[in-house]
Amino acid sequence: MEENEIWTDKYAPKTTKEIVGNPTALNKLIDFIKNWSSKNKIKGVLLAGPPGVGITLSAHVIGSAGYDLIEINASDIRNKDAINHIVGSASLEGSILSSKGRIILVDEIDGISGVQDRGGVGAVKEILSKTKHPVIMTANDAYNRKISQIRNSDVVQVIRFNRINVNSIKKVLQNICNQESISAEEEVLDSIAGSANGDLRAAILDLQAVAQGKQNLKMTDLEAFKFYRNREKAIFDSLQTIFSETDRNKIREAVDQANLDWGLFLQWINECIPDHMKDNQELLDSFDYLSRADIYYGRIRRKAEKAGWALLPYLIELMSLGVSFSRTKTPYRYVKYFQKAPRFFFQNVGKFNRGTLANIGMKIRAKCHVSVERAINDFLPYLHIIFENERKKRKEFAEWFDFEKKEEQFIKKFSS
Ligand SMILES: Nc1ncnc2c1ncn2[C@@H]1O[C@H](COP(=O)(O)OP(=O)(O)OP(=O)(O)O)[C@@H](O)[C@H]1O
Ligand SMILES: [Mg+2]
Repeated sequence: MEENEIWTDKYAPKTTKEIVGNPTALNKLIDFIKNWSSKNKIKGVLLAGPPGVGITLSAHVIGSAGYDLIEINASDIRNKDAINHIVGSASLEGSILSSKGRIILVDEIDGISGVQDRGGVGAVKEILSKTKHPVIMTANDAYNRKISQIRNSDVVQVIRFNRINVNSIKKVLQNICNQESISAEEEVLDSIAGSANGDLRAAILDLQAVAQGKQNLKMTDLEAFKFYRNREKAIFDSLQTIFSETDRNKIREAVDQANLDWGLFLQWINECIPDHMKDNQELLDSFDYLSRADIYYGRIRRKAEKAGWALLPYLIELMSLGVSFSRTKTPYRYVKYFQKAPRFFFQNVGKFNRGTLANIGMKIRAKCHVSVERAINDFLPYLHIIFENERKKRKEFAEWFDFEKKEEQFIKKFSS
């Protein structure tokens, strides 16, 4: 087993029995697939519900039980040939490729671009009218106006999924802990399950992020993790602004609001550009701006404090406006940045030792009587400034807080 495998993949249900919650919805979906015939009036189902409750998962699990699941992205198909190819002739394709039945999955149709009849919505309507196979569509927000024509269509049945209840989430977490030989304080699992807001995927990802490299899970570990979680939220908001806004000031401000390490933010933008730009010229332009931003970033880091920071406005301008205005053709589409987060978390923050951070937080807490999260958020940035600039004070503080050498170095390098 790959060490850094994401637990939502590692522990993803393989059969419908293993899927937690929403039994009624699941049964409706199974019935729809089993009883599908081109003579039926209902051609497709729209699975609608909050994120992370297993909607896409359900489609995949059912699809893998003896079907060819064809997954298509509605925003990418605009022409009739492509649609015809997808909905194609069942008998012909069936006999050549396999005897399996096909299922067409159009995931996240509420994220598709284009007004009603043009763009993605038009493509989906076309698929529904021609299909020779069952069509499964998914959406987080069934009431999104963009998809009203699909939701209200008389060939579509809407199936609702609900949030997963806290107890069920906790059971899944406990089960994963057992399999990973991790002993967790009850309070930790309660807290993760409770703050997931019914989103099982989020809970599993949180557990993995907190538990990485640990055999015992304590509340202090969780508090240190929450610090990163809040930071992530700020990143996502800023990314969304950069890729959706047209107002220059708002775009510039977004970079400031992200309030984080510039290098990390550059990486985030780098990762998300291909999601928002499909045109070659757009890609060329945006990566050009980004690489210039990266050069400034390197200079700022190398130069002495003052001289370096004078370049900051250029860096901000290039990575915000430069990238933002490179998108001239591709319509804005909603991207779930958090789905990229786990990988980032392990790559970047993971190597930045979270165990050390938790210990530092605990030591600050002991002396200052605040929560670990507050210790990291509100106290650590100041300690960092002191540690970086005043050697004598650093010694005094380190002694008072009882920091080890390793922790002292960590604080010196810490950037929030
Ligand atoms: N009901 C569930 N039972 C078991 N595992 C689940 C369930 N829901 C989510 N998971 C876990 O979360 C992962 C992601 O689920 P999935 O992508 O299906 O979420 P989703 O409901 O489609 O969310 P979104 O609407 O954001 O796409 C799964 O691979 C699985 O590990
Ligand atoms: Mg999904």
